Amino acid sequence: RVVAVIMVGGPTKGTRFRPLSLNVPKPLFPLAGQPMVQHPILACRIIPNLVQVYLIGFYEEREFALYVSAISNELRIPVRYLREDKPHGSAGGLYNFKDYIMEDDPSHIVLLNCDVCSSFPLPDMLEAHKRYGGLGTLLVIKVSAESANQFGELVADPVTNELLHYTEKPETFVSDRINCGVYIFTPEIFTAIQGVFTQRKDTANMRRMNSFEALQSATKALPVDYVRLDQDILSPLAGKKQLYTYETLDFWEQIKTPGISLKCSALYLAQYRYTSPHLLASGDGTKSATIIGDVFIHPSAKVHPTAKIGPNVSISANARIGAGVRLISCIILDDVEIKENAVVIHSIVGWKSSIGKWSRVQASFILFLLAFYWSLPFQEYKLTFHNCSTLFDAIELSEFPYKFEHASQAEGDYNAKLGITILGEAVAVEDEVVVVNSIVLPHKTLSVSFQDEIIL
Ligand code: GDD
Repeated sequence: RVVAVIMVGGPTKGTRFRPLSLNVPKPLFPLAGQPMVQHPILACRIIPNLVQVYLIGFYEEREFALYVSAISNELRIPVRYLREDKPHGSAGGLYNFKDYIMEDDPSHIVLLNCDVCSSFPLPDMLEAHKRYGGLGTLLVIKVSAESANQFGELVADPVTNELLHYTEKPETFVSDRINCGVYIFTPEIFTAIQGVFTQRKDTANMRRMNSFEALQSATKALPVDYVRLDQDILSPLAGKKQLYTYETLDFWEQIKTPGISLKCSALYLAQYRYTSPHLLASGDGTKSATIIGDVFIHPSAKVHPTAKIGPNVSISANARIGAGVRLISCIILDDVEIKENAVVIHSIVGWKSSIGKWSRVQASFILFLLAFYWSLPFQEYKLTFHNCSTLFDAIELSEFPYKFEHASQAEGDYNAKLGITILGEAVAVEDEVVVVNSIVLPHKTLSVSFQDEIIL
């Protein structure tokens, strides 16, 4: 039997996700038309002998109640939200609900961070874990050496895959292999966490005996019941033949900011081609809009047949998309209205917002292309176009007709910030207004154009 646990954190986490996390807990923000947490839940569903999925967090119970009952019914697997009274850390939170998790007497526990976007190769990982025979197996991926320090960096034995060394977000480079926040454990993980509690209590008692040292360390010490999976468990157990790694060559991203959620939405939409093609809009029939690439349209959304949508667009419930509207690389949330001939590019449009006729909401255009297709360091490149008269034409050609030259050999200055535009809830963009590279907080009305601004 297998129990899956997804750590969803709480309102004091996910602050970099504002303004979008002001309305909805970050784990329920839609990527490719489905709540962020639903992608790992769907991945768990195909694990043989899965009996239960728990979401553990410190959000209010009511924020998850509707979601967990709906998804349990829909998928026919029990999904339950367990609320911590306060943050206990990624391992402390797990330990807090040991009795629930062990109720089903699982042989394995699949533990997932909620804020990662991945193909979650869980059945293969579970098989590998059984072969290794250790306490735990971590999903790892190779990233660029420059970005590795945002994650847990690790070294594994190339033959046995044993985890030899682990450092969380190190200041000096250790390795370009990183921890993906996806784990398989045996129930012995609880003994390992209990060991950290005991050690903490012993240290606290010893300090109490030495009052000067107690005074010095009181502010530094973590609460006894706060245990971090990475620093407190993975680091000390590395090199002890207890932890192993499973490397993925598929996609993986960490979802900390709204900007990255657009990229993750694109990755999940592309995955639907293989896993759930029925979720992708086809654009067949004379009455439907023109669809380009991967697009999700909620069945309750109304899209005018003269609109042109895609690639990488997801349109949520009850949105209304008017005549002649052009949408490229964007997330349109529930109850949004986009009026005639408006254009939205590389942007997220918040719940109940409206965009007026002939308005444009977009990132700066060239940066959008670089960000979306290649994630390139844009300052270093110059973009030139071939065989197409406009950028729109260019985007729609399947062969990507751009040529990059290194900036040192090229003219022109592309020194703007890498951008995205985000409209919070109930923002009204009036007719013929242009909003470029800006973040707009909820309930604002924009009657003039803005560029590179945060509108509070
Ligand atoms: N329930 C609960 N309670 N969840 C928590 C708590 C807590 O007290 N603290 C963190 N989490 C959840 C977060 O919501 C997230 O899903 C996960 O646990 C890890 O969060 P952090 O501990 O803040 O770590 P991180 O996201 O900065 O980095 C971790 O994940 C990376 C992969 O995304 C580390 O494990 C890195 O090594 C790893 O590369």
